[in-house]
Amino acid sequence: MTDRLKVILTRRWPAAVETRLAAVCDVRVNDDDHPFSSAELRQALETADVLGCTVTDRLDAAVLGAGCRVKLLANFGVGFNHIDMKAAQAADIQVSNTPGVLTDATADIAMTLLLMCARRAGEGERLLRAGAWSGWSPTSLLGTQVSGKTLGIVGMGRIGVATARRAAFGFNMKIRYHSRRRLEPVEEAVLGAEWHGDLVSLLASSDFVSLHCPSTAETQHLLDAKMLACLPQRAFLINTARGDIIDEAALAEALANGRLAGAGLDVYEREPVVHPGLLELDNVVLLPHQGSGSRETREAMGHCAVDNIEAFMTGQELPNRVST
Ligand code: DGY
Repeated sequence: MTDRLKVILTRRWPAAVETRLAAVCDVRVNDDDHPFSSAELRQALETADVLGCTVTDRLDAAVLGAGCRVKLLANFGVGFNHIDMKAAQAADIQVSNTPGVLTDATADIAMTLLLMCARRAGEGERLLRAGAWSGWSPTSLLGTQVSGKTLGIVGMGRIGVATARRAAFGFNMKIRYHSRRRLEPVEEAVLGAEWHGDLVSLLASSDFVSLHCPSTAETQHLLDAKMLACLPQRAFLINTARGDIIDEAALAEALANGRLAGAGLDVYEREPVVHPGLLELDNVVLLPHQGSGSRETREAMGHCAVDNIEAFMTGQELPNRVST
């Protein structure tokens, strides 16, 4: 059995997926599911053939330096901004991810956040659980109507489109978007989507803005204090993409000063740390990176990662190879 591929998983994967993998590889799991330190990552890279990694692993140039035995980073997740791709390439390590299977789950969470912050659902639940609800009143906890409003989407990839579909067909929202790739005219027509080449004009004309672009050198702090100031005061900002696309300190300040109506966040700049200014505010809904977190989706992500590992084992082209 010594010729079986040695795979180390940095976090627990769904049971059915771990079982499938263990049938074909020599798998070591992280029993207590703690996030790996740099030293643990380094040790895993030196001892395994494949590392099943994820967003909580900081695979930077120092960790991916010389002496790695690993030849595949099978990422459990679509985003790969936690992997230094140049360093992986230099170390002759392939990288795969799990695109496609988490589109609907993530778009669902974007809509959850949009509805929760517009309709003050978090505030209402906190009030009720605190025993402070004195009954219905015509003027209590009034929120913002969602139906018919304008949704600005930044990054119109799979998840951006899935969010636009929910907003357009479920809530009759008008869709505008800013994206490197413009949709085909027929796709724009189906969604009634209007393309904005200029981010400022998109921000200025939206009631809600939802971020769906990847975290790259170009999108780091894309929404900084200056850009946040371009949003109308009535606007809500939703982020299910990556935390570092927004300057969290600037967002906390804009929300505290009433320069922005509210925000719904699933991702943060320094996860699991959340900017303390945000934790104090009622007009922000905060979720703990739950975007892809349905049982069905996490299993599908795991199976997608295993498909890539099996292709690697048999010397085939990876179905979801990430290239820079
Ligand atoms: C993803 O797939 O990138 C999710 O954010 C979980 O990592």
